[in-house]
Amino acid sequence: MTAHQNNWTKTSWKNVTAHQQPNWPDAKAVDEVLGDLEKLPPLVFAGEIRSLKKLLAKAVTGDAFLLQGGDCSEDFSKVTAPTIRETLKVLLQMAVVLTYAGRKPVVKVGRIAGQFAKPRSADTETRDGVELPSYRGDMVNRPEFTEEARIPDPQNMMRGYNMAASTLNLLRAFTRGGFGSLQRVQAWNQEFVAQSPLGRSYARMAKQIDQAIKFMETIGIPTDNPQINQTQLFTSHEALLLGYEEALTRVDSTTGDWYNCSAHMLWIGERTRQLDGAHVEFLRGVLNPIGIKIGPTYDIDNIKQLVSTLNPENEAGRITLITRLGLKNVEKVLPPLLREMKREGLNIVWSCDPMHANTYTAETGHKTRSFNDILSEITCFFEAHWSEGTIPGGLHIEMTGENVTECTGGARNIIDEELANNYLTTCDPRLNAEQSLEVAFQIADMIRS
Ligand code: PEP
Ligand code: CO
Repeated sequence: MTAHQNNWTKTSWKNVTAHQQPNWPDAKAVDEVLGDLEKLPPLVFAGEIRSLKKLLAKAVTGDAFLLQGGDCSEDFSKVTAPTIRETLKVLLQMAVVLTYAGRKPVVKVGRIAGQFAKPRSADTETRDGVELPSYRGDMVNRPEFTEEARIPDPQNMMRGYNMAASTLNLLRAFTRGGFGSLQRVQAWNQEFVAQSPLGRSYARMAKQIDQAIKFMETIGIPTDNPQINQTQLFTSHEALLLGYEEALTRVDSTTGDWYNCSAHMLWIGERTRQLDGAHVEFLRGVLNPIGIKIGPTYDIDNIKQLVSTLNPENEAGRITLITRLGLKNVEKVLPPLLREMKREGLNIVWSCDPMHANTYTAETGHKTRSFNDILSEITCFFEAHWSEGTIPGGLHIEMTGENVTECTGGARNIIDEELANNYLTTCDPRLNAEQSLEVAFQIADMIRS
């Protein structure tokens, strides 16, 4: 038993307040679903979780870089081969650019295969004088604005498990079966460079990557071996619905330790990271890598206590602090946090979420984010780390492989009036494929320094 498990059981979270849980109308029906989920196979294996933690430990020291991305909220109706393939494709494209530029491995983690539950700032939503419960993700209720759609249905947790399983199955097939081979991903990048209005400025890097691959072939390094042909994408989601997370928490038979086998990495959101709350209580006992979202109003002592509660042994790779501070705050509020954690000698993967504190409502009524704000928060994040002597270790973005118009700007300069053209998200606005890859090309040089 490690210090994590002191007085911990997988149900000890039930003794403290759990925020952001759905108001399930029928408690018995919930118990039945959770009982069934408990008997079903885990989605991931503890050995994989340990591998991810080892890779993340490298991001603590700057010997690897974490790329975490995917939908704000996965949509059951989008659990289809094309959607999964396109999201994976963009993550792999970004990873090739960042790996080449940064000269270090990129640890790829999707917000995928389980990102189905959302915290909300208000319990209800009012439209034209009608008040209904908020949409809380497909694992809870449905986004349509009708009374029936908004009733939480516990069967959605079973559907979510099945959606996660089939997503993961396809991801494993793609990443192991040659879809992610280096030559192929590089060919996609060249296609992007040829088509993007700003692509010419990325052409040099695309050409260099090409030359590196050709060089390997010339000197006889086989490019059809598993290192080149296979890749690994880990999964992650916000551990929000504690009943579901508990049902998938299992003892690893090889070590006797507890792991949450619903995903490789879990994170705690800005709204559920109360020190005395149920989410922290639950996650302190499982040995997965844990992300903690940190918004601009954080309290420094609270963050220190959170880190020591969740990682009493200061194990490297256990904690990723995901700062989501907003362009207007980052320069002021990030340095003191970096300084203090460094002074305490804490092993942290520092990751930048440039999305969540840069959201605004456009005049058209769409919730959006500007590409320039996103890029600027990332730049400020790197600069703060350079001046504090800490390691900028990762990027956390909301993105999709679909050709959506949800964030403004980028090379095609999406303007407010164009947001309605293909605005598909049921929650927060995502970068589309082109905007995501542009981020990778734009930050490539920063990763190297
Ligand atoms: C999210 O990542 O979608 C989210 C809700 O983030 P945060 O907890 O940082 O607001
Ligand atoms: Co979001």
